[in-house]
Amino acid sequence: HNPPGNVVSLSVSSPPDVPIGLYSLTLDQGQKVKLGEFVLLFNPWCAKDAVYMEEERDRQEYVLSQAGLIYKGTTKRIKASPWTFGQFEPGMLDICLKLLDENPKYSSDADADCSGRRNPVYVTRVISAMINSNDDKGVLVGNWSGDYDDGVRPSHWTESVAILHQWADNCCQRVRYGQCWVFAAVACTVSRALGIPCRVVTNFGSAHDTNSNLLIEFLYDEDGNDISDDSVWNFHVWVDNWMARPDLDAGYDGWQASDPTPQEKSEGVFCCGPVPLKAIKEGELNLKYDAPFVFAEVNADVVEYVKLTNGRMVKMGGSSIDVGHFISTKAVGSDERHDITHLYKHPEGSLQEREVFERAKHHHELQQKGEEPGLKVKIKVSPDMDIGADFDVFAVTNNTEADKTCRVMFYARIVSYDGKPGANCGFIEDLTMEVPTGKGQVSFVLLRAIYKPRVNQKLSAQISLQNPLPEPLQNCFFSVIGAGLTDGKILIQNVGTVGPKQEVKYTVEFTPTSTGSRTLTVDFDSDKLSNIKGYLNIEIKE
Ligand SMILES: *[C@@H]1O[C@H](CO)[C@@H](O)[C@H](O)[C@H]1NC(C)=O
Ligand SMILES: *[C@@H]1O[C@H](CO)[C@@H](O)[C@H](O)[C@H]1NC(C)=O
Repeated sequence: HNPPGNVVSLSVSSPPDVPIGLYSLTLDQGQKVKLGEFVLLFNPWCAKDAVYMEEERDRQEYVLSQAGLIYKGTTKRIKASPWTFGQFEPGMLDICLKLLDENPKYSSDADADCSGRRNPVYVTRVISAMINSNDDKGVLVGNWSGDYDDGVRPSHWTESVAILHQWADNCCQRVRYGQCWVFAAVACTVSRALGIPCRVVTNFGSAHDTNSNLLIEFLYDEDGNDISDDSVWNFHVWVDNWMARPDLDAGYDGWQASDPTPQEKSEGVFCCGPVPLKAIKEGELNLKYDAPFVFAEVNADVVEYVKLTNGRMVKMGGSSIDVGHFISTKAVGSDERHDITHLYKHPEGSLQEREVFERAKHHHELQQKGEEPGLKVKIKVSPDMDIGADFDVFAVTNNTEADKTCRVMFYARIVSYDGKPGANCGFIEDLTMEVPTGKGQVSFVLLRAIYKPRVNQKLSAQISLQNPLPEPLQNCFFSVIGAGLTDGKILIQNVGTVGPKQEVKYTVEFTPTSTGSRTLTVDFDSDKLSNIKGYLNIEIKE
């Protein structure tokens, strides 16, 4: 169409496989005139683009949604925790482009790297390397030490915007500290900002196989100390990205797992994936990238050994069903948990699952290690166990043919979610014990919006929390944030001490800056209970 007067209307169409990034537009009339700049992204709305996604509601969730839920906990207690991705908040796109330019492949060959940016497989692999700061100027440094004094406790973060700003505003100095869900959530922000559909995925009972034999070998000494290299984490979090795989045989388009948490090197760099979920499900471990590592995370068998003082190794037990359960992501368009285990593996214990495992193991030319019958001790805790109170433990022995006399050593230990044992908190030979308070998971945060929410009008929300412990909580803080709600700021309120079983209420005020569906998240911290999170979805009207 022709605009009036001295104005020319210009439209630019780009091929669907053109590299993403910053372009400048120049008018060449003998003398060059710079008209402006634009950023080209992957386009999930374009049928010929490698990231094309057919359903509008899927694109709304996996590309446009700025808030989401991340699942944590254990197979028995799955908890959703809110996260603000904020990929369209001011400055985010520039930071994501900077992240691509800081990648070592760009410094060593800028032309090849920029050309690679036409391909979401390439870009996803770069993102998985650049979210962690191992071996490059990436964003986050991982820390699982339990001491985070010179940085931010990983469980304290609730959003990606502050992390990416901190990195970009400090000359790409690594941000302290991340753990798996922080790495995954920031990768999700960057993927969505660049137009690659992405979701955060949690695997419960997640194996970390250090010697790539698809077996998790637990090794204990005679005193019960864990001396293994391999581990099974209560949960582990990574991302799935949606794209075509023209680099593989047909049939592998769709969701691809990639894992930005630095765990093992791949082609000399801490990165992992993208690998098609279909390849993981069928045990096709020679497909790019890093299929054996992801396969083990969801499918490894567990074998337990005791190393006696004379050096002899005794097999104690094992299981082929401990690893890879309730693989979870937020459902499209709702706050329900969507279980996607079936996309990663055949049903546990099924014939197909065993076949796939054997095929995968054959690929690694491993000898089968059979199960041995013997004495088994299983520990069960009673279901009504309360945080901060004593609880009952039941031990069950089974699988023996004759009576046996056993020496039972019973240890109580704090184990963090990554399987790392903490301090010994008791060595007793009968079956009663005490656990210290504050190590469990509770979430009693409730949020309630009071006024009808409109953009640029002050809004308040009431937050309440009930102390579930039989003792007071000191040094209590609420931190509140929401993309488009709190103007990029974290609102912090000190509420002092909360008595045993007492309820504390706090009314937070803020002025929403954007319309549409928004998520307010709140984090509660205190001396005994910390990182308790709640959230509220709010529709902001004009
Ligand atoms: C983890 O954090 C502690 C304390 O803040 C620090 O001393 C230690 O060096 C950190 N570890 C890594 C790997 O950065
Ligand atoms: C003992 O083993 C049998 C056979 O494997 C099983 O059916 C039973 O449930 C086990 N008992 C307990 C208490 O685990």
